[in-house]
Amino acid sequence: MASRIPLPYSPKVLELFRNPKNLGRMEDATISATAGSLACGDRIAIYLKINKDDIVEKASFESYGCAANIAAASVLTEIIKGKPLKEAWKITWRQISDELGGLPAIKYHCGILAVGALRRAIRAYYKKEGGRPEWLPEHLTAEERQALEEEELMEKLAKMRKKL
Ligand code: FES
Repeated sequence: MASRIPLPYSPKVLELFRNPKNLGRMEDATISATAGSLACGDRIAIYLKINKDDIVEKASFESYGCAANIAAASVLTEIIKGKPLKEAWKITWRQISDELGGLPAIKYHCGILAVGALRRAIRAYYKKEGGRPEWLPEHLTAEERQALEEEELMEKLAKMRKKL
């Protein structure tokens, strides 16, 4: 019988997977966004409560991803609480990975999805507000592009699986 080799998760990833912070839908969110694809089950939603000074008052998430995705979203939502959107925007998946004591290479995309969802939420917020601040890049950043590419890839794989 084939046995699965456990992934080398750091103690922090395992701890946050078991006891995630800020988990759950936020009913009074100012804005929310998702990244990932339901087709393969890896999907994350980020909820933000933003005040009139563009500061993140509350952040939460829902994840249909793996342990690394849950831990990444947990850390991300902790880091951005109380931060101006301009600062929250600058957080990278590598920072998230470092905060978690490192992610296995095969799990990098789990952090990318979390950051991708956050950046989508920030873009959506300013779109709703009717103006893009000068610090918000006009074009998609690497993390947003990667999240998008992963979604497209997952959709393609799901379609291929259906055909089999
Ligand atoms: Fe897809 Fe972690 S979110 S494997």
